[in-house]
Amino acid sequence: MNSPLVEIISNPLAAVSAEKYEGLWTFLLIWGVINFVISIGAGFYFVVKYRRKREGETTPAIHGNYLVEFLSIFFTSVFVAVIFIWGWNDYKEFRTAKLNEYEINVLGQQWSWQIQYANGKSLVNELYVPRGRPVHLIMTSKDVLHSFYIPAFRVKQDTVPGQYTSLRFHATKTGTFDLFCAEYCGTTHSGMIGKVHVVEPEEFQAFLDGTFKAKPVLAGKDGKPMAAPKTMAEVGAVLYKTKTCNTCHSVDGSRLVGPSFKGLFGRPSELASGAQVQVDENYIRESLMDPMKKLVKGYPPQMPTFRGMISDEEVNQLIAYIKSLK
Ligand code: CUA
Repeated sequence: MNSPLVEIISNPLAAVSAEKYEGLWTFLLIWGVINFVISIGAGFYFVVKYRRKREGETTPAIHGNYLVEFLSIFFTSVFVAVIFIWGWNDYKEFRTAKLNEYEINVLGQQWSWQIQYANGKSLVNELYVPRGRPVHLIMTSKDVLHSFYIPAFRVKQDTVPGQYTSLRFHATKTGTFDLFCAEYCGTTHSGMIGKVHVVEPEEFQAFLDGTFKAKPVLAGKDGKPMAAPKTMAEVGAVLYKTKTCNTCHSVDGSRLVGPSFKGLFGRPSELASGAQVQVDENYIRESLMDPMKKLVKGYPPQMPTFRGMISDEEVNQLIAYIKSLK
């Protein structure tokens, strides 16, 4: 059995991001050691070389060396530029949406992680992801700031109440890895831990279908097997009616009081202010909570706020429904 320290040091590299960030970090570490040795070594050398050797000795009064000054500034600048470009490239790669990425919703709350899958499956503190496929986590918080942290992937992202943040990774190794909250969020912050399970794509499909590890079929109160869970988009379609979105927004492209939901997601939309927005998760959420903030051009300011009337899970489900209306 390894000690916890050994486990931290030998933390596996289980994602593309882990390998990339580890490469940059190792480069910085080696450079740091080399620089430390050079500068401290030079310091010692000069202390010895220019020490006062006898009583009454004056200093040699050296007034500088342009070549040494130029070279030290030049190479420091090159070094800083290299780590900037290297870091920017990696950062850009993991911030950019991928074509076939798999989307999963994450909700942070005091003191657990709730994971919502598109097919309606919901888990607490257990995240299943397929190996070899880009994953996009769409995350928010129900209460305070949390930080979603998977050391084996070298990724970390705050979850913020009232706002969506994204985390992207591409797992390369199957296995079970630690999931931590890395933002002090209250008394049981340290207990806000979970597991990330990276499984083969077939196993992931089985997990989604509910057949993974041959779990028993869920029985309802009457003893009969319960109906398959509704997908997030299906629940969203029900909310579309029960939350009365349907009185002002059509789903077939026709114009009612407000813009239609058909083909809305991902489209640029012109605002009454003349500005443009991209319709994404954050825009839909903001329009639900603060409808007057970014009014769509050509529509009356008549939408009421849904603040406090719709839960975070329901917002996710409604967005999943709007996404499905291509
Ligand atoms: Cu959540 Cu710390």
